[in-house]
Amino acid sequence: MHRARVALNPAHVVAPVSRRTFGSFVEHMGRCVYTGIYEPDHPLADEDGFRTDVLALARELGVTMVRYPGGNFVSGYRWEDGIGPVEKRPRRRDLAWRSIETNEVGIDEFARWAEKADVEIMYAVNLGTRGVQEALDVHEYVNHPEGTHLSELRRANGAEKPYGIKIWCLGNELDGPWQTGHKTPEEYGLLAASTARALRSAEPDLELVACGSSSSSMPTFGTWESTVLEHAYEQVDYVSCHAYYEEFDGDLGSFLASAVDMDHFVNSIVATADAVGARLKSKKKINLSFDEWNVWYLSRFQNQSQNQPQAADWKVAPRVIEDQYNVADAVVVGNLLISLLRHSDRVTAACQAQLVNVIAPIMTEPGGPAWRQTIFHPFARTAALAKGDVLDLRIESPTYPTEKYGDAALIDAVATHDSTTGDVVIFAVNRDQEQPVEFSVDLHGFGGLTVAEAWTLTDDDLRASNTRDDPERVTLRPTASVPTGAVAISGETATLTLPRVSWSAVRLTRA
Ligand code: AHR
Repeated sequence: MHRARVALNPAHVVAPVSRRTFGSFVEHMGRCVYTGIYEPDHPLADEDGFRTDVLALARELGVTMVRYPGGNFVSGYRWEDGIGPVEKRPRRRDLAWRSIETNEVGIDEFARWAEKADVEIMYAVNLGTRGVQEALDVHEYVNHPEGTHLSELRRANGAEKPYGIKIWCLGNELDGPWQTGHKTPEEYGLLAASTARALRSAEPDLELVACGSSSSSMPTFGTWESTVLEHAYEQVDYVSCHAYYEEFDGDLGSFLASAVDMDHFVNSIVATADAVGARLKSKKKINLSFDEWNVWYLSRFQNQSQNQPQAADWKVAPRVIEDQYNVADAVVVGNLLISLLRHSDRVTAACQAQLVNVIAPIMTEPGGPAWRQTIFHPFARTAALAKGDVLDLRIESPTYPTEKYGDAALIDAVATHDSTTGDVVIFAVNRDQEQPVEFSVDLHGFGGLTVAEAWTLTDDDLRASNTRDDPERVTLRPTASVPTGAVAISGETATLTLPRVSWSAVRLTRA
């Protein structure tokens, strides 16, 4: 059996766990909103038309913040279409997804949903077809207390108190040629800076996110951020990162190492932002908002849309990119969360894309049930267990060769330490496709610890999925009950036996 090891030290702290790491994303796209969070005719709908089964699953997932209303959708969106009497709201073309937007749900409805789900809203403004004035208008509507035209309109529409939205995305993926209103970095940097200045005159302590790269494979990766920040460095707090991963041509080894790319993405953009800061002689640090990340079988979507260009054209809530996730996908998602946590000193906000139906941990059938996809489980358990500080780990692990990333570690892990409870939690993946790996964790300096709980996601069939008919096929199981899985503590060393292609979370508590 291969062996890996690490020594934890309570003094080696990266940063506190940011609760915003466990963000998600609700876009007006496909069935994320309509028949996802909102389905007034559903037997489980509440008085506002929200599916209570989906609300319960969103809470169980542990989502803390939700980005809204897009995505590509937002770059052609008129926010004011979604306020006031529903019967008067216009039906519009959504050019991003060639769908029809009925506007039955707008910011007032979404704010009600967010309150019920107990999540913070991250609001994205349209800087594709719109600009500074419209950003100010929606800000006045949602955040201005009272006594102005738009704040009074909100009150007349039923929301007496402002929503107090703190974190704002200045557009979406404007580096991408597919984006309505795609811009050069100079154009976007100037627009982001002037929008940020205007928003800050209205409310100085907003947290503002400038668009970064839509993927690390964009030809402008790095130079986009550099130019945008040259213009907007002092005006914004974050630059965004977006990354989607999939298994190409059966290359499971590279796919399992997707977090290598996420690490590279974060390190490159931190270096880029810091270099701009140095050039500008600024004392300020720009953080990263990884506000779209997930596994997405994008190549299937692209092929499908090329073969059947009319398949989903101009429908209301069509089935778009409803990827069904398997065991390997869940292991990768767990690993991407490990990467995000490891960078908690600079990645202080992140959103898994998306929440329901559209490349999502939660699936629904119209009029039918809601269920958890495989990727639900590592997200929910990480959100529940990651508390206190993220520790800095130097893992010694054997490696394996990958097509895309060269030699990658077999074991990847992160750990958190809650000094108030004494709990230490280790999140670990084994990327070995053949055998378990024994991972020994030196806990010198933490006092006596015992195993409080240990969970593993794995399966003999790495392609197994959860479906409407078999919604619990893949779930977390106690590590000790999984073939080849084990956890033991002896003295100050914990030994985790991690099954092949698996994700695990082990919570240790004071003995
Ligand atoms: O999440 C799906 C889409 O992916 C979003 O609309 C867009 O921002 C990204 O390209």
